[in-house]
Amino acid sequence: KTRVLTGITTTGIPHLGNYAGAIRPAIQSSQDDNTESFFFLADYHALIKCHEPDVVRESARSVAATWLASGLDPDRVTFYRQSDIREITELTWILTTITAKGLMNRAHAYKAAVQENVEQNAADPDKGVEMGLFCYPVLMTADILMFNGQKIPVGKDQIQHIEMARDVAQRFNYMYGETFSLPEAVVDDSAMIIPGLDGRKMSKSYGNTIPLFEAEKKFRKLINKIKTNSLEPGEPKDPEGCSLFAIYSAFTGEAEQAEMRQKYADGIGWGDMKKFLFEFLNEELREKREEYTRLMNDPAELDRILAKGADKARAVATPFLEDIRNKVGISPMA
Ligand code: TYM
Repeated sequence: KTRVLTGITTTGIPHLGNYAGAIRPAIQSSQDDNTESFFFLADYHALIKCHEPDVVRESARSVAATWLASGLDPDRVTFYRQSDIREITELTWILTTITAKGLMNRAHAYKAAVQENVEQNAADPDKGVEMGLFCYPVLMTADILMFNGQKIPVGKDQIQHIEMARDVAQRFNYMYGETFSLPEAVVDDSAMIIPGLDGRKMSKSYGNTIPLFEAEKKFRKLINKIKTNSLEPGEPKDPEGCSLFAIYSAFTGEAEQAEMRQKYADGIGWGDMKKFLFEFLNEELREKREEYTRLMNDPAELDRILAKGADKARAVATPFLEDIRNKVGISPMA
C-alpha cells in the first residue's frame, strides 16, 4: 500500500486554503483502498511561530475538529498529534546531524526572514530568527520519514520542504543503508494557491484568511471583503487573477467554471458575484460546520480519538526508530 502522509501546523484556525490545498485532497486519497494514510497536527511546528500556550492548545483542537468534520475517518486513517509521538523529535536530532546547513539556508521561510532584515537595513540579517525557524524543514523531514511517507498531499508552498526531505532521506540511505522511502509532493492542481482577502496567498502569517468554518454572518462579511478590481457591473471581466473566481474554482469542476467564465464575460457585478460565492460556499460547508461546532464543544471526544491515533502511530514509529538508532550506532533503549 502507498503511504500518504500530511500535517497542518496548529497556529490559528484552518482556512479555505488549508482545506482546498491539503485537507480535502488528503481525505479523498484516504478513501482509496490502495493507500494507508497518516494525518497529523503539527503542534511542535506551531511553537516556531507562536509562544502563547492557550492559542497553541486551542488551535490544536480546532485543527483536529476540522479534519474530523471534513470527513476524516479515524478508523481508516492514523490521525495523531505530532507531539504525542516522541520518536519524531528524536528522529529530528538524528537527521539534523546529517542535514547540510547550506540546504537549510535555501529554505523559503528562512530566506524570506533574512530578506526582510536586509530590506530594513538591520545590522544582523538573522535578527529575530530562531533556530526553530531555521531547522523547521528537518522537523518536517522527520514527520515524513518516521512513517516512510511516500505521497505527501500539500499546497504549492510546501513543495520545497518535501524536496529537502527527499534529499535528507537519500543521504541517510547512502550513509547507513536503505532505510527510508523517498517522499514525493502531491499537489492538487485545481486548488493550487488559494488567494486571501488581499489577493496574496491566503496565509495565517498575512492575516488575510477566511476561516473554513466561520459562523455564517461573519463568513458573509469576509467574502464581501475580498479585494477585486474597480470594473463596474456590465463591463466584461477576466476570471484569471480574480480571487473570487480562484476560490470558486477550488470548490467546483470544469462545467461550473465554464459557466462562471461566461458570467464574467457577460459582465457580472462584483456585488452579485460575492453574493453568489457566499451562498454557494455556505451551502457547501453548512453540514461540516455543524459537525465542527459539535466537536469543538466536546473536547473529551477529540482527546479520545487522538489518544487512539497516537497508539496506532506509535506502533509504527517505536520499532522503526529502534531500527534507525541501531543503524547509526546508538544502543537499544536501556
Ligand atoms: P501549513 O499549516 O502552513 O498549511 C497546511 C497545508 O495547507 C496548505 N496551504 C494552502 N494551500 C493552498 N492555498 C493556500 N493559500 C494555502 N495555505 C496553506 C499548505 O501547503 C499545507 O499543505 N509545514 C507544514 C505542515 C507540516 C507538514 C509536515 C506537511 C508539518 N510537517 C509533513 C506535510 C508533511 C505547514 O506549515 O503547513
